[in-house]
Amino acid sequence: VSGPERARIPVADFRMSSQQLAPVIAVLRSGRLSEGRSVERFEAAWADYVGCRHCVAFSSGSTALLGGLLAARQTGLVQDGRILTSPSSYAGTVNAVSLAGFQPAFADIEPGSFGALDAGQVAAALRPTATGGHVAAVLPVHLFGLPANLPQLTELAAAAGIPVIEDAAQAHGSAAAGRRLGSFGAFGAFSFYMSHTVPGIEMGAVVTDDENLARQLRSVKDQGRRPAAEREPAEEFTAYSMGLNFKTSELSAAVALAHLDRIDDIIARRRRNAELLTHLLQAQTGALRLPAFPPGACPFAYPLVLTDPGIARDRFRSLLGERGIETRPLFPCIPTQQPAYRALREEYAGRLPHSEALGRDGLYVGCHEHLTAGDMRAIAGAVARILRKK
Ligand SMILES: Cc1ncc(COP(=O)(O)O)c(C=O)c1O
Repeated sequence: VSGPERARIPVADFRMSSQQLAPVIAVLRSGRLSEGRSVERFEAAWADYVGCRHCVAFSSGSTALLGGLLAARQTGLVQDGRILTSPSSYAGTVNAVSLAGFQPAFADIEPGSFGALDAGQVAAALRPTATGGHVAAVLPVHLFGLPANLPQLTELAAAAGIPVIEDAAQAHGSAAAGRRLGSFGAFGAFSFYMSHTVPGIEMGAVVTDDENLARQLRSVKDQGRRPAAEREPAEEFTAYSMGLNFKTSELSAAVALAHLDRIDDIIARRRRNAELLTHLLQAQTGALRLPAFPPGACPFAYPLVLTDPGIARDRFRSLLGERGIETRPLFPCIPTQQPAYRALREEYAGRLPHSEALGRDGLYVGCHEHLTAGDMRAIAGAVARILRKK
């Protein structure tokens, strides 16, 4: 929430009915709060929902991505090298790549997209003659629940003999070509942070069909040990590979399960709000670029790009904020412009114009299930008034 006042139309909101809270309170009363039955139930339910054989819960979306990359390297699924990803993402993506010991590499996003990697640029980066070093995996990000160019990217990666890994942190329930996002790659990583479609306090998960990878994921999140059910008493503290504690809690899983139970309704409400907002903002397309959520996509939030040079994004945001409408900038600083990634600045100078433009002119508003058609009308009305007066 920006500013001292709670926004009237927040980007995200969290509410649970007493009925939904009952199983969460039962978990608290049980005294068993570290990973147990609720986490197992969540893993089974999420694997089933996404359409993958395995799901391994993590403490966050970032640690799911980090643990997934570590396990993929330990099993030989991903070789050393660079991980080619989108510069238009939350910092968790590039940080996980780097902390897992890989060099991040970037392709620009497709012009006019809200974060989809440009397949032509990926193809160029995968050419054997490309400079910049060996690309070991392609990591598209399904920003806002919009499917990144999966058919092309999986084809390109397969031709190069490398895996696709999906950052599906924001893509709960979104599907492309009849398959849920997160199930296309060697693995997919999700975040169940509070603002997401299925919130789980702080929790993440990796989904995969690869049994060997799933075993390694369970080891990586538990100090590199063998699963408790399989180890001898004498090897309780034996680390077979390098790992850390990336476990989540029963409480997180119970909160997420309570939302997963009604995911179809949550998605329908989000889609309805997004569709209405797109309809109401049609008159503003001279000044704004709007998203197109294809059938099967679940909006994480509602992104916009200001195309009117007469008003700066941050001024537009503050005018919306004054009218009680919370907004977030659309990654105002791409990794190659951040102090932590100074070393990449020169290599990518001038090479990521579409990501830079999204970072400069993009923002998003909420379209979550607790917002109404009236809220969408209030957003559209405020946008129209601001653009008229600017
Ligand atoms: C695209 C993307 N990747 C990774 C993450 C990291 O997830 P978490 O905040 O749960 O660590 C997020 C968080 O929202 C995200 O939006």
